[in-house]
Amino acid sequence: MKELKIESTLFVYDSLQELPGDIQDLMSKASQARLKAYAPYSKFLVGAAMVLENNAVVTGSNQENASYPSGLCAERTAIYYAGAQFPNQKIKTMAIIAGSQNHPTTSPIPPCGACRQAIAEYEVKQNEPIEIYFMGETGKVVKSNSLANLLPLVFDKGVL
Ligand code: THU
Repeated sequence: MKELKIESTLFVYDSLQELPGDIQDLMSKASQARLKAYAPYSKFLVGAAMVLENNAVVTGSNQENASYPSGLCAERTAIYYAGAQFPNQKIKTMAIIAGSQNHPTTSPIPPCGACRQAIAEYEVKQNEPIEIYFMGETGKVVKSNSLANLLPLVFDKGVL
């Protein structure tokens, strides 16, 4: 038996104002996208904005469904749109902002497991890291230099 320790490095900023202007702008686009979420069931609104290598910005928000599993998270809405519309453009950075309508969300909300898997697919496809920033409606912002930091032991095409 051998113990395996997994280490990830993330960067935590006290507020969005600590980040460069282009990241503040991208988070602001995520925030605008969040307002377009359709989340009548969870009342939890999420927005995502991504910048591609051609500088196009693609946004998404969560879209729920009365048949709950048919809904889709903001991150996958955005990344599948980018994959469909800009299949040859690498994704540079993704900003995510999330919060409940029922209570203030003041701590960073990481993407769910399914979204991490979906983002990982595109990171592997483009063979270049995707920078991820995530936050609640206010407060600290977490940065990961790569999706890989958020999903150790990734399942990807290498095993197929
Ligand atoms: N949600 C996202 O949009 N992204 C995540 O990473 C986590 C969850 C959405 C899905 C659902 O509409 C609501 O938040 C509550 O789970």
